[in-house]
Amino acid sequence: MNENTKFQFAFLLFLAASWYLISPAAANLVLNRVDRRVDLTSQIVRIASSLKVENAGTDDVSEILFSLSTEQAEKVAFLQAVLVEGKSKSKSKSSAVILTVTSGSSDGRVMLFSVALPKPLKGGDSLSLETYVVLTHVLKPFPEEIGQSDAQLVLFHESAYFLSPYPVKVQSTTFKLPSSRVESYSKVGVTKLVDSEVRYGPYENVEALATAPITLHFENNQPFAVVEELVREIEISHWGNIYVTENYKLSHGGARHKGSFSRFDYQSRPAQSGAASFRHLLARLPPHAHSVYYRDEIGNISTSHLRSDFKKTELELEPRYPLFGGWKVTFTLGYSVPLEDFMYKSSDGRRFLNITFGSSFGHVVVDNLIVKVVLPEGSTQPTISVPFAVEQDKEIKHTYLDTVGRPVVVLTKKNAVPEHHNIFFQVYYRFNSIAMLAEPLLLVTGFFAFFVLCIAYVHFDFPISKSSASFQAQVQREELVDLVQRLQKVMGIRGEAADRLEASLRDVARSGDTAQCKVARKTADATWKETSKDLKALSESFHLSARSSFVLPKVEVLLQKEKEMVEKLQQKQVATVEAYERKLSSKDIDARIAPLQSKYSTLKQEVRDLIYALDD
Ligand SMILES: *[C@@H]1O[C@H](CO)[C@@H](O)[C@H](O)[C@H]1NC(C)=O
Ligand SMILES: *[C@@H]1O[C@H](CO)[C@@H](O)[C@H](O)[C@H]1NC(C)=O
Repeated sequence: MNENTKFQFAFLLFLAASWYLISPAAANLVLNRVDRRVDLTSQIVRIASSLKVENAGTDDVSEILFSLSTEQAEKVAFLQAVLVEGKSKSKSKSSAVILTVTSGSSDGRVMLFSVALPKPLKGGDSLSLETYVVLTHVLKPFPEEIGQSDAQLVLFHESAYFLSPYPVKVQSTTFKLPSSRVESYSKVGVTKLVDSEVRYGPYENVEALATAPITLHFENNQPFAVVEELVREIEISHWGNIYVTENYKLSHGGARHKGSFSRFDYQSRPAQSGAASFRHLLARLPPHAHSVYYRDEIGNISTSHLRSDFKKTELELEPRYPLFGGWKVTFTLGYSVPLEDFMYKSSDGRRFLNITFGSSFGHVVVDNLIVKVVLPEGSTQPTISVPFAVEQDKEIKHTYLDTVGRPVVVLTKKNAVPEHHNIFFQVYYRFNSIAMLAEPLLLVTGFFAFFVLCIAYVHFDFPISKSSASFQAQVQREELVDLVQRLQKVMGIRGEAADRLEASLRDVARSGDTAQCKVARKTADATWKETSKDLKALSESFHLSARSSFVLPKVEVLLQKEKEMVEKLQQKQVATVEAYERKLSSKDIDARIAPLQSKYSTLKQEVRDLIYALDD
């Protein structure tokens, strides 16, 4: 065989294979019944079909094909086939198995998808299959441009018949619309409009791959929020936080706005004016999200409202202007979450991040979603586990004090929808804790070198004789340094007790259970009582010490502030216990606790600064 005939032979084989794939006759399958429900109530189209498949031939069948028009196949965000097992009609007895769907061949008009069965379907047997297809950008605004007071109308093209490579004995389709305001719908045999549903069928004995094109024209004022691009950067710091930054390019993908925009109309008659526009966006952040910010090209935007309870944090954003069809806005949303909420260790010693993949906003379509996970410096062998297909890439990011840079895992998903792509995924990696010390070591080495120089300087220039006044001064100074160190140590013990009590208060917010925090309060009170004697003694020593005059005022302020800090924390504990035991709403709880918390945080920072200031 020369090269040419070899090629022809391969081509013939390919043709034979694709004929086999496309030809339904090859497998003697029949769909006894198909019920299709098409949800057109938002900008996302969701098609759920339940199929009764029978093997009318004698040979075993190990795969089932289903098809979409090529136009729809290009707009698929999510595709799933589920095998429903169990003969009983009751849902509880049947079980569902999610099957693998692979895209097969296309003849230019129809795209075939293949579903592999876990065990072959024998001749004469039948099974129940459910397919679920999610499409984006298939609702076309018509008219394409509307004024501020017009409703938004859209067109949807489909077939009244279920597109199938197998003959269908009985079938029906229901289209669910956002409202009963329908401009027009095509009629094919039995067609009914009931409330906000258009029903087609039942139709009997429709041939394989037969279609009956229909068009639905209806009102859909849902905001078509389309994120053209979202870059989510998730940066892991082993020092306790995960920093999330989301950069949005958001547009309104509905009918374009024409004419001028009247803010007066918009505000005075919100029901008639700009029905399809949107003004607010609701982001759902993880429960312990903190340091939240929201800014656009101009700067920080303060018109956002943050609400949180122990299950979630909700952030309502208001862009500078409402978004009408065709308008765009870019902005950045950032927040931090505690490391321990999303970081785990697997049994083989690797660490892994387990966090959600998609946008924080519900109801948005993301055309291009890029997720960058920035691992700590020194991490190796990153591997990912994402429950859908993504493109994967690698980068290195250099930040402040990095020596070799941080490894970045870059994941890209086109055409993402909230319900199927904003789900948990994992990034596994190896990390040596020694690497964590690289940055502090760099600093420590620098300081150490500096101190060595200072000591050398002092020793060479000022030799001390024991009888001299300078020797006396030296002794007094050392005494003072010792006092300061003892004070810092006691403050440290008291501070730790405060931190533990604070942590238990956070647990109350998470679980609503106050018992633990009462125990923590008792322990903390005991520590504070015990150490307050030491503080008293130390305070007296400072007063007696000969050289303490310059440090004494600082010590007194510190003692005072620290006392206030402890009292504030005790008040917060009492308020928290009371609020949760009286089962107040999370808004009321916030209103009671937030002011105490903010005062406490301020005091805590002041105390810390004062403790450090003693070293000077
Ligand atoms: C914006 O807010 C962030 C976080 O609250 C803050 O760090 C930053 O300084 C603010 N920037 C401006 C320009 O106000
Ligand atoms: C990731 O977190 C979610 C929610 O907490 C949990 O349901 C899931 O099992 C976790 N996945 C892994 C692999 O730990």
